[in-house]
Amino acid sequence: MTKTVDVLFQPFDGANMALANRVVMAPMTRSFSPGHVPNDQVVDYYRRRAAGQVGLILSEGVSTNTVTATGTPNVPNIVSDEARAGWKKVADAVHGAGGKMGLQLWHEGPFRNPAKTEHPDAPSWSASGFKMPGKVIWDPMSDAEIETAITEFVDAAVACKELGFDCVEFHGAHSYLIDSFFWDQTNLRSDKWGGDWAGRTRFACEVISRTRDKVGPDYPLIIRLSQWKQQDFAALSAQTPQELEQWLAPMVAAGVDCFHCSQRRFWEPTFEGSDLNFAGWAKKVTGKPSISVGSVGLSGEFTELYGPGGTSEPASLDALIERMETGEFDLIAVGRALLQDPDWTVKVRDGRDDELQTFTKDALMTLY
Ligand SMILES: Cc1cc2nc3c(=O)[nH]c(=O)nc-3n(C[C@H](O)[C@H](O)[C@H](O)COP(=O)(O)O)c2cc1C
Repeated sequence: MTKTVDVLFQPFDGANMALANRVVMAPMTRSFSPGHVPNDQVVDYYRRRAAGQVGLILSEGVSTNTVTATGTPNVPNIVSDEARAGWKKVADAVHGAGGKMGLQLWHEGPFRNPAKTEHPDAPSWSASGFKMPGKVIWDPMSDAEIETAITEFVDAAVACKELGFDCVEFHGAHSYLIDSFFWDQTNLRSDKWGGDWAGRTRFACEVISRTRDKVGPDYPLIIRLSQWKQQDFAALSAQTPQELEQWLAPMVAAGVDCFHCSQRRFWEPTFEGSDLNFAGWAKKVTGKPSISVGSVGLSGEFTELYGPGGTSEPASLDALIERMETGEFDLIAVGRALLQDPDWTVKVRDGRDDELQTFTKDALMTLY
């Protein structure tokens, strides 16, 4: 690194949270929770990241129900008593190590793989019943199903607070259930849950506002969003800054505190004519704090994981530091670098650049 990393280690006070530094552990599905219950191995995994001075840990995606929300084996939920007891141990361990943590609440929607679940015959839920634009697979969600899905998100968020977590993140990105409502290519509804931005944001806004009513005004609520989709990395839910404002403003009114803006490469501009990235634009159009993410400290981006190779070398943080020094966004989420090395944050802070590790796919095979 040629630049000082001080900006990463300034305390953060905003979005109803006080954090020791600006490093957020990105939510990463690990599939190490047999029976959908986070076990002691999972407890230690998160404890190590807290001991490694991560400012805020966001958990792997956590299912909001046991049937339609999940299609990935060994993903934890927050529904069963056993799972809640496991998460309580995680929260206590992270706090014991001086850290802070929130759960990412995840409904896989159309990207659930029914064949990999205990309920292969249950239809998957999504706004208009398809995964790829135009290819109908299931019925659109009924009003009753929408109501159930909202209630499940709210109940899960309330449980998260009761278990002692410091915030909640709703997974509204990457083509899953909430995102299937946002994107006009997968939401073709003509009722109040579709149509214009007011209609397409209604599902998320109901989740946020009803959660806000239950958890009170001070409990931090984050929503993760992405322009890109699993079906199309180049997709743009919002084509212009004006559309972005129409997308985000209703969620601000509903009571969200922070936007977590998922990109595969944090340095890429979102709209032509400006260098601002997605998190930069989210902060600019709402005035709310934002979290950026995407290939921090590594040479390759995360979707290359699934291609040949799957390794990424340590890379300079200079471009990130420059953006953070301008205040473009407030916090930076780090995924694979922290999955590879729980001590990544301290090594960066202390200038131990020669100890930064290459990310390899082996890091996915185990929890350490
Ligand atoms: C193994 C793995 C699992 C992931 N699981 C999730 C997830 O559950 N929820 C989510 O929002 N993003 C998930 N992501 C995306 C990351 O949160 C992050 O946005 C992405 O890895 C880019 O950050 P990085 O380049 O620092 O790894 C996952 C990424 C990886 C590598």
